[in-house]
Amino acid sequence: MTNIDRSQLSADAWDELNFPRPEEQEFDRVVERAISRRGFLGGVLAFGSGAAAMGTGLLSGTSVQAQAAASRFPFTPIAAQTDGTIHVPEGYTWKTMVRWGDPLFSDADGYDVNAGGGAVEGSDRVFGENTDGMETFSIGNRTILAINSEYTNRGTNLPADQDGVPANAGDVLKLQNLQGVTVVEVAEGEDGWSVVKDSPYNRRITHNTPMLIVGPAAGHDLLKTDADPTGTQSLGTLNNCGSGKTPWGTYLTCEENFNGYFGSTAEMQDQKPDPLVDGYTRYGIGADGWGYDYHKWDARFDTSKNPNEPHRAGWVVEIDPLDPESTPIKHTGLGRFKHENAEVVVANDGRIVVYMGDDERGEFLYKFVSNGTWAPGGPTDGLLDDGTLFAAKFNDDGTGEWLALTPETTGMEAAEILIFARKAGSAVGATTMDRPEWISVNPNAVEAYCCLTNNTRRGVRPNAGGDETPVNGPNPRLENQYGQIVRWFPHDDDHTSATFDWDLYVMAGNPTVHSDAYAGSPNITPGNMFNSPDGMAFDENGLVWIQTDGDDDNEGDFAGMGNNQMLVGDPVTGEIARFMTGPKGCEVTGVCWSVDRRTMFVGIQHPGGTWPDGEGLPRSAVVAVKREDNGIIG
Ligand code: FEO
Ligand code: CA
Ligand code: CA
Ligand code: CA
Repeated sequence: MTNIDRSQLSADAWDELNFPRPEEQEFDRVVERAISRRGFLGGVLAFGSGAAAMGTGLLSGTSVQAQAAASRFPFTPIAAQTDGTIHVPEGYTWKTMVRWGDPLFSDADGYDVNAGGGAVEGSDRVFGENTDGMETFSIGNRTILAINSEYTNRGTNLPADQDGVPANAGDVLKLQNLQGVTVVEVAEGEDGWSVVKDSPYNRRITHNTPMLIVGPAAGHDLLKTDADPTGTQSLGTLNNCGSGKTPWGTYLTCEENFNGYFGSTAEMQDQKPDPLVDGYTRYGIGADGWGYDYHKWDARFDTSKNPNEPHRAGWVVEIDPLDPESTPIKHTGLGRFKHENAEVVVANDGRIVVYMGDDERGEFLYKFVSNGTWAPGGPTDGLLDDGTLFAAKFNDDGTGEWLALTPETTGMEAAEILIFARKAGSAVGATTMDRPEWISVNPNAVEAYCCLTNNTRRGVRPNAGGDETPVNGPNPRLENQYGQIVRWFPHDDDHTSATFDWDLYVMAGNPTVHSDAYAGSPNITPGNMFNSPDGMAFDENGLVWIQTDGDDDNEGDFAGMGNNQMLVGDPVTGEIARFMTGPKGCEVTGVCWSVDRRTMFVGIQHPGGTWPDGEGLPRSAVVAVKREDNGIIG
């Protein structure tokens, strides 16, 4: 298992390999419901009050066609592509801005990616690998981007071993250096956007950067290690997936598949008391890890020596990108799970609301509501820690509620609710979801959207906590290979509200292959097909940009969908149009805009072939997309 490079497999395939299905599938005992496409959508529309508020024709085929004439999209949608480069609509351009291994400082100029990343030296002075969530910040006339590097392709970075298995502590350190977060100043010149080398704002935050642990769980026994008996200081941030931005101008980076970095040099069953084993199982922490082999060379990641270390990851981390000396902060108030992103919104009364997804099959959607309120320029202490964490329950009638995770509702003590948030969600009966990825709030309406990327085990087997995963309202398809986007409308137009209405904005599918629910919702046509929505962000115009991380083999169920891509959706009409296609093999993830909104920065993760250089190793990168007339782009 450890000889297989994670990067060679989809997340689904990897998970399947690590957690094989039992021979007798629970699916065999599930009665497959024959739901006609029209019947399914009729049901959604009938009980979605948000849909009702905007007219019952919302998302129906005729409505979409009628609205197309009045499209708010200022471009001609592009066709699906299967080649090795990027495509954007006529009248738009794209250009690579920064690639994995590009030096941020003059002293890293010699870093040689084509030699497989070269030496350890300099690996923490270059742009990290596998770009993901990112946000824009500014100070004076300067543009500063904070950009996640989610994971590494071991085989690429450690070419001395065909399988990318670390052979020594230096190999591990190199991998650790190339992940985390990059803070980088960029500037637009005559040749487009590029890195401002040696900017005082340039900074790498890696798997070893010192950070603080704060909030209600800080200092708990489960967070203490020999190196940190206080349980309040940790090293590094792991598997930085999606992002968020606070209204006070800091960056939130979200720790997702942190479990993959831990392993054990001793037999798992011999080393821990039961409560820890329970937590390990729920969070997928095993003896082998995902092949990074940190635990063989860095005892911090060896759970037989440091059983509490995994509890110090899986958090949302706050970084001040405009203060290079600042210490990143892990906020325990936001719960510990496989965080996708953190969408922050200021409620009507000034309280802070953070929406968060836990990206694993059958896991939950969460919301944090602060006790305190925020005002521009006011104090921010405690606003991401002192408050209540909720998990979402969706009812099939189109309503839903946020279930508070408290000692009274869960039977768990307060700190353990946060450290084992998944268990708390199970205790209150939260709805098992089809892998919640990014959440984004519409700036022009009180509504939030979440990409439910896919779940090929829906209706087949329970989640890691044993919660059954029957087909349910927002997750309506068995063995869902395509994904959907759910949205919710908080009651009283208040994001702190405990109740909401919901509907499905889109069900991805393939109408050229299927004629049932797997054809997708009527706003899916042969001209805009995609699968596995993942990254997502609203622009200031209130259009929602949707990025995909799905199957790009362009065959069978996925025929005609082509490479992973970025589309744009109109929340009012339901219209969805393809704006960009990525190079074969890639995931399109991470999107943010320049301050003047004339540039859209888009991330290309794990490209195949030799993109973008046409030679050498494929390199993840951030590209700058512009209109040829330099008009506003979102
Ligand atoms: Fe890192 Fe769920 O995507
Ligand atoms: Ca993602
Ligand atoms: Ca994904
Ligand atoms: Ca990814």
